[in-house]
Amino acid sequence: MTDQHPTPALTAEPHRHPNPAGVRRVAVLTSGGDAPGMNAAIRAVVRTATSEGIEVVGVRRGFSGLHRGELQILGPRDVANTIQRGGTILLTARSHTWRTPEGRARGAQHLRDRQVDGLIVIGGDGSFHGAHYLQQEHGIPVIGVPGTIDNDLYGTDHTIGYFTAVETALDAVDKLRDTGASHERIFVIEVMGRHAGHIALDVAVAGGAEEVFIPEDAKDVSCVVDVVKESVAKGKTGSIIIVAEGYPGGAQGVADAIEAGTGMETRVSILGHIQRGGSPVSSDRVLASRLGEAAVYALMEGRSDVMVGRQNHTITFIPLSDTWEKRKDVNRDLYRCAKTLSI
Ligand code: F6P
Repeated sequence: MTDQHPTPALTAEPHRHPNPAGVRRVAVLTSGGDAPGMNAAIRAVVRTATSEGIEVVGVRRGFSGLHRGELQILGPRDVANTIQRGGTILLTARSHTWRTPEGRARGAQHLRDRQVDGLIVIGGDGSFHGAHYLQQEHGIPVIGVPGTIDNDLYGTDHTIGYFTAVETALDAVDKLRDTGASHERIFVIEVMGRHAGHIALDVAVAGGAEEVFIPEDAKDVSCVVDVVKESVAKGKTGSIIIVAEGYPGGAQGVADAIEAGTGMETRVSILGHIQRGGSPVSSDRVLASRLGEAAVYALMEGRSDVMVGRQNHTITFIPLSDTWEKRKDVNRDLYRCAKTLSI
């Protein structure tokens, strides 16, 4: 389902969005793994809503906080100086209580007590599951905003936090290349991404890696031996191999195969949670601002149970269930390109 908000004329006049749903108060929370740009999304929700005369309630600690009633009013000044900050000012959690109908019923009651007309959930597909059940069981309108470094959500070209995570990982790869080349060592670098290889693929191309292993391609790890032997024969000093954490055996498995097959000195670097931190890059801030605004408009238009995404620079609305039932593929052209350029 693709939809584009009408482009208002270029004017300094404030834009008033139609509000057929009669929304007067919305709640917003962040859930699951934090991602750089979540604060920019919260800010966009608060400021869009406020400029439409709608009050915003911030929920602390995601769905865990919602079931405990950790709600607070957020005004435009509460989100000042946050657009450049990593993490999430609302805090986040992976909630177990929310997986029970009782936990969700308590959360729904807190929203009803505060006369909340709709909930905006910034997170990944696990968080969208939680939002979906809230809508199904209690009729509370919900909108998902894709916030995860993994970029693994169907229905949006990119997720908030992805661009920054790639930059952070790339910075580490560049540094590891310096030391790797100096020692003529092989570096096997593991990046995050859960079950998806999006981060790995971008980092491999941008970092000039010799080889990349992603969960989407089940190629045998032993192929790395030939790759390394060939790069030595070509006179390369040191090699960079990128491995997505979801590839079976991870970076250690790849490094073990290299050492067993070549006897060459190999080092493993698992970048880990550093990829989730830091100030969001401009692409994440812009995406978050745009999606946060669109989420408020979506509630005002009477939409629910959808994720706002951006595809080809256009705002789209995807049923929440599609985000976990359909799989977003990696960019196959990029995968080929990584191989072509590693000669
Ligand atoms: O979904 C974001 C992510 O950072 C994944 O890349 C990673 O697999 C996971 O979260 C780590 O989760 P946790 O912070 O709970 O260890």
